[in-house]
Amino acid sequence: MSDELDKLLARLKEIQAEGSQEINQAVNKEKLNDIRVKFMGRKGKLTEILHSMKDVAPENRRTLGQQVNSLRDKFQASLDQANQDLTHKLIEQRLEEEKLDVTLPGREPLMGSKHVLRIMEDDLEKFFIGMGYQVVQGPEIETDHYCFEMMNLPKDHPARDMQATFWIDDEHLLRTQTSGDQARVLEKHDCSQGPLKMVGPGKVYRRDDDDATHSHQFMQMEGLVVDKHVTMGDLKGTLEMIAKHVFGSTETRLRPSYFPFTEPSVEMDVRCFNCGGKGCPICKYEGWIEVLGAGMVHPNVLENAGIDSNVYGGFAFGVGLDRFAILKYSIDDIRDFYTNDIRFLTQFRQEED
Ligand code: DAH
Repeated sequence: MSDELDKLLARLKEIQAEGSQEINQAVNKEKLNDIRVKFMGRKGKLTEILHSMKDVAPENRRTLGQQVNSLRDKFQASLDQANQDLTHKLIEQRLEEEKLDVTLPGREPLMGSKHVLRIMEDDLEKFFIGMGYQVVQGPEIETDHYCFEMMNLPKDHPARDMQATFWIDDEHLLRTQTSGDQARVLEKHDCSQGPLKMVGPGKVYRRDDDDATHSHQFMQMEGLVVDKHVTMGDLKGTLEMIAKHVFGSTETRLRPSYFPFTEPSVEMDVRCFNCGGKGCPICKYEGWIEVLGAGMVHPNVLENAGIDSNVYGGFAFGVGLDRFAILKYSIDDIRDFYTNDIRFLTQFRQEED
């Protein structure tokens, strides 16, 4: 019977060697659990040995039992140790992976900036709001009716050729001017309730070939004042304030001009703010720079909107925001506004408020 004991003790030795090796080689916790089940589970190898106890002489059973228990304790201790080692290893690994070098310089976030034309527009809006004007926005896809007819430009009027038009169909077009905003606002205005003062900024389009001084898309700002007793002097004073605000110019001059929606019509020049009038490339050696068109609202425009032109009158002006920005910042190519070169666009950051 002691043969049986020896056999089982030898078997225990094998199990010990096998188990220790497997524990040493286990790469993760799942594997360790498999090993625990394989050796110490209900159908595990150590339990199998205990089942063989009945074949061992009663006086030897105690020895075998002790050996099995001590091996179980050893296994448990090795498994616990291996589990702990794995936990440490995982933490080390994560620390290594998530290592943060706090001495590295931070990444500078890219800051956007306002477009220079938007800066120009916002600034002028503020200026006019300060003088009691309202700001209106008309549609970029405009009708022939508002863009031309209401503005005293009936079909076949030769002055339509002044503005090469992108037509969408017989009635719709990409607006060539913001002047249509005047008609839209006049039509709704009740003159008996007080004066009308508005500016209308926005994009306009013309069928031009793009080059340094032409763009098929650009920006205008329309201005309109209608009331009783509005005079050319009021217009002149307003235009001078614009010139002073935008260019710092105090010397201006009005030249006669023609627009279908104003009579009389004028263009305003400012003294060249670069050379003071001596002549330079900016003023093309003229000493003066043309900055906008304006005039006294044509009676037909008022009548078309249902306003009695014998009682009410007004003045209007139209400025090119691109032109203002080109002059103010000495920009030599209008296409720079529309080609989105970030080096160009970020130059005007300091102008933002
Ligand atoms: N709409 C004109 C243009 O695009 C500019 C203009 C001139 C507007 C005189 C006006 C004005 O309101 O009175 O050329």
